[in-house]
Amino acid sequence: MGTFPTGVAVVTATGAGGEPVGLTVNSLTSVSLYPPLILVCIDHGSASHDAIVDSGRFGVNLLKDSGRELSDRFATGTREDRFQDLGWHPGPAGSPLLDDALAWIDCEVYQAHVAGDHTIVVGRVVDCDHTDDDPLVYHRGRYRKLAGP
Ligand SMILES: Cc1cc2nc3c(=O)[nH]c(=O)nc-3n(C[C@H](O)[C@H](O)[C@H](O)COP(=O)(O)O)c2cc1C
Repeated sequence: MGTFPTGVAVVTATGAGGEPVGLTVNSLTSVSLYPPLILVCIDHGSASHDAIVDSGRFGVNLLKDSGRELSDRFATGTREDRFQDLGWHPGPAGSPLLDDALAWIDCEVYQAHVAGDHTIVVGRVVDCDHTDDDPLVYHRGRYRKLAGP
């Protein structure tokens, strides 16, 4: 799958104590238009897994091509460090959304399917918006930029 280029997103949710949590993902896929559904695959070992499934809502924050530091931040370190000195705000469905996202999708959990060591979390889109900036791209374990016209 590393040969398949993807965008990069940070999935966010609210933990049991009301704190924002999140992790970097590239398993984001559109699923349905009517109703509007998307999915992400979350590792059972993720510290954010239960917050995403149990809170019943999650946000998807697509990253700009300037978002490498954000991607690394949400793929490493502790949960507490990730939101340190970071601008975010609650979305329409209540998920913590990053201020500097390329686009955002606020979702309610529609279904959760266990598949191997991940959970396929299907979200019903409550609201979304986007900017016209370029996306961060991930390919063969490296960040890339879009090239060409
Ligand atoms: C580009 C990129 C894509 C990733 N995609 C996923 C993904 O789709 N699902 C997943 O569970 N982890 C994914 N990860 C790994 C998590 O971001 C990483 O394991 C993170 O430390 C999990 O944090 P948590 O345990 O606090 O939730 C990805 C990491 C990177 C750098």
